[in-house]
Amino acid sequence: MSTVDEIKARIDIVDLVSEAGVKLRHAGKNYTGFCPFHENKHTPAFVVWPESGTWRCFGQCNEGGDIFKFVMKREGIDFKEALAKLADRAGVKLDSFVAEKPEIKEAHEHLRELLEAATFYYRAHLLNNHDVLTYLREKRKLTDATIEIFGLGYAPHGYDNLLKHFSSKGYTEQDLIDAGMLSVREADDSRNTQHATRSYDRFRNRILIPIRDENGKMAGFGARMVDPNDMPKFLNSPETPIFSKGRILYGLDRARKPIRAADQAVIVEGYLDVIALHQAGYENVVSPMGTALTEDQLRLLKRTTRRIVLALDPDAAGQKAVLRGLDAARSAMDRQGELGFDARGLLRNEARLQADLRVASIPDDLDPDEIVARDKEEWQRLIENAKPIVTHVMESLAAGQNLHDAKVKNEIAAQVLPLIEDLPSPLERDTYRQALARMLRVDERSFAGSQVSAAPPRRKPRRTDQRQPVEKNQVAALNPTLKMEAYCVGVLFRKPALLYRLDRTLQEFGLSALAEADFEYTDHQLLFGIIRLAVEQDEKDYQHYVLSHLPETVSEVSKSFLTQAENFEHEEGKVFEELVSFIIDLRRMNAMTNTIHLRFLLEEEQEGANKKIYQEQVLQVAKLIHSLDQAKKKLSSKRQS
Ligand code: UTP
Ligand code: MN
Repeated sequence: MSTVDEIKARIDIVDLVSEAGVKLRHAGKNYTGFCPFHENKHTPAFVVWPESGTWRCFGQCNEGGDIFKFVMKREGIDFKEALAKLADRAGVKLDSFVAEKPEIKEAHEHLRELLEAATFYYRAHLLNNHDVLTYLREKRKLTDATIEIFGLGYAPHGYDNLLKHFSSKGYTEQDLIDAGMLSVREADDSRNTQHATRSYDRFRNRILIPIRDENGKMAGFGARMVDPNDMPKFLNSPETPIFSKGRILYGLDRARKPIRAADQAVIVEGYLDVIALHQAGYENVVSPMGTALTEDQLRLLKRTTRRIVLALDPDAAGQKAVLRGLDAARSAMDRQGELGFDARGLLRNEARLQADLRVASIPDDLDPDEIVARDKEEWQRLIENAKPIVTHVMESLAAGQNLHDAKVKNEIAAQVLPLIEDLPSPLERDTYRQALARMLRVDERSFAGSQVSAAPPRRKPRRTDQRQPVEKNQVAALNPTLKMEAYCVGVLFRKPALLYRLDRTLQEFGLSALAEADFEYTDHQLLFGIIRLAVEQDEKDYQHYVLSHLPETVSEVSKSFLTQAENFEHEEGKVFEELVSFIIDLRRMNAMTNTIHLRFLLEEEQEGANKKIYQEQVLQVAKLIHSLDQAKKKLSSKRQS
């Protein structure tokens, strides 16, 4: 869910509008009041729909929108400012969101160059260190080519090597700190020793593994101990402006093409496993970096494939973590050094991202690198045998248990059923219920009465407590308009050529061209406005134009379109048909609500100038609905012919 959606989900429009001094009165599912944007003491022409989070003035303004539009208009500010205000109110952090300004971009480039230079520095030290080289070659069975391809290095003993080396090359101590290669001493330390350096080498006597982003740009380092007494075993770069563990997957720069080719990505747990698997010819492999797998990381992969296999270590940090997630608190999973492969979270992500997530279990207490060392083909078999998450959970829970014991059966069912009930697809739910019943050798009907099958209804975002966690797909699930709008903008964003075709088709149906006003949500309006301008200009290519004109705040939204709206990979003709049909539906839904409210307003309005305006509007809307219905008919007859 984009930040914008999250804010929408957390703020109740009725509260927002009321606080702005508009007295709202309950009217059916909606609220009405006097429009704060124009003078009128007689008719409450201002309507708020809490369900969709939108408002509209049927009077003089004849305008409407969402919470952002309301604040923008009310306070005369732009989208970005409104977003900042409402984010603050909703308790949603915006910082991840701020796009790189040119001077910041430059600073980041500078850091990346420094890290790139550091890989050469560490590499030179590795080539001079016979023991460590021997370890990599003989113990880890890495070839020189692999060591070179992955840019492995060695950080020597000592505390001031980097500063000495890099200050002669035009880098400052602060640069090295910013890049995450120097650690800063405690403050009172430096007060006492005025001339001593403020900082020291973060990585000492460690094997260094360069970490690059998906485009191959340097981001940070992972560093494995050489001396078994050194703790921790792996020390990573700290979070820096260019290194965020939750947003990078190790190895993705090299794995991207192979993932595309195989239409499958494999996630393992360790750097050295990624490297060993690549060397063995399995190049579609990546790993997180000692932290829970994040939604961002899955999204990164989803750009290339929807088929993702988790190859988990057999130890506590791996397979058991799947099970632990069943009842452990979410926060516990964010602990360093263990992967949050929790089944429930994964299933939610799987559904939301429309991915196909499977789990491969690795036998005999071995790491993936040990598996390929003993038998290359074995790896392939393991991956081919990967199981859907629910199946994996079921089988892991059952392993080694006495399945004739009714208590055991009950225990397993109690853990698995809630996962099953949470699946969005009825077909999948049925299939897994049957599988569970078969495995436990019970009648499927016996699940029906248990307390687990009666999953509590999902909570709606409510206005009372702004800080309660919001289910990520709640907004979309609640609100078909939002979903349809997002879909249409998403399609046009990716296939802008369809816009002309769409306009022509609408025209043939006697309807007006697609306009910003067709969208209720401000971010959709903004994005559509840019798409429209982009296809109408011819100075720059489309992509370039869009990217350079996107307000930074909307780029987050569009990024999510790029990753979300992937189900229109199918035939373009079909996508187009769907697009036309959705636009007609959107207009019709809009027209219908308008009619209802105009009728309502007409009843309220005994006499006066407004009555005429409303009557005129009712007529127009009726005409519009008629044309829309005609269009829909033509569309379906077209489809049949
Ligand atoms: P492992 O301990 O399984 O290491 O941690 P490994 O990659 O198999 O390394 P070898 O084979 O013992 O040399 C798995 C991953 O978890 C992260 C690292 O990303 C590591 O590759 N990790 C582990 C940390 O970030 N910190 C740690 O202290 C340990
Ligand atoms: Mn290992």
